[in-house]
Amino acid sequence: MIVVGPKDGFSDKLAEKLGCDFFELERRTFPDKEIRPRILGSEKITSANKAILVSRMERPLDPNKYLVEILLTVKNLKSLGVDEVTLVMPYMIYARQDKIFRSGEPLSAEYVLELLKQAGVSRLLTVSCHFSGIEDLCPGLEAVSISGFKTIAKYLAKLGLRDPVVLGPDEKAGTWAKEIVNILGSGEHTFLEKHRDRDSGKVETEEKLAVDIGGRDVVIVDDIASSGGTLINAVNIVKKHKPKSIIVAVVHPILSGDCVEKVKGAGADMFLSTDTIPSEISKISVTEDIARFIKTCGAKEV
Ligand code: R5P
Repeated sequence: MIVVGPKDGFSDKLAEKLGCDFFELERRTFPDKEIRPRILGSEKITSANKAILVSRMERPLDPNKYLVEILLTVKNLKSLGVDEVTLVMPYMIYARQDKIFRSGEPLSAEYVLELLKQAGVSRLLTVSCHFSGIEDLCPGLEAVSISGFKTIAKYLAKLGLRDPVVLGPDEKAGTWAKEIVNILGSGEHTFLEKHRDRDSGKVETEEKLAVDIGGRDVVIVDDIASSGGTLINAVNIVKKHKPKSIIVAVVHPILSGDCVEKVKGAGADMFLSTDTIPSEISKISVTEDIARFIKTCGAKEV
């Protein structure tokens, strides 16, 4: 098994954890924005190799460029004779377009999976995919989503929080809050009611809390921080109840604009994320959990 990917401290780290030979993917963008991902040392790759392409989106974020890079590299690996390509895509792009919300929209999440399969990906491993059911969405593509919340929980456990409240800023995030409390083995979970206007993207959150948070450590968890609107609303509601501290932790730090400053400015004492996307808050590495999953080839997890 070989690992192919950019030398970005993520792909090479994963190769090391897996004990696999690493082939660097050199990223080059031409002035007209076309890209040329080149596998260095490709002459040593033979049909005897199975490959894991570990590709993390770089900043500035450009999911379209990232997708083309993956498609070109998978095809390239196939043309070099590799018959089985596993793709590690830590942040599943287009996953928020998993439904046709308004007529005329494409079902982008499904179409992206089809493109990956057609390019030659046999197996896709991602982290906390935004929608559930990725394993069944594209027949012929074995897809797995491992939980980034487990990784976050293991990090939180080291902070020594006593009887924390783990809060999801919406109902879906409430299930992730519960998962974290179960792993921590202490505290309570709860969630808020959130509504998003599909046209403006504006988020409104109801100011109702089902759990007493006064004087307690509150951890607000979500899968994605993008504009930060969802998290800022949650922080604003939580801080009115005078908690001991507010920690915000997300799996995928998209962090558009001045999201970090706004979340901290609203009153978060800590704002952390995993490293599925590189960023200034990506302090919690998922590489250990990805490596463990690959080594054990564990059962499907969502
Ligand atoms: C939505 O359902 C997601 O789980 C996140 O809450 C959302 O993507 C966060 O977006 P934003 O930071 O723009 O509010």
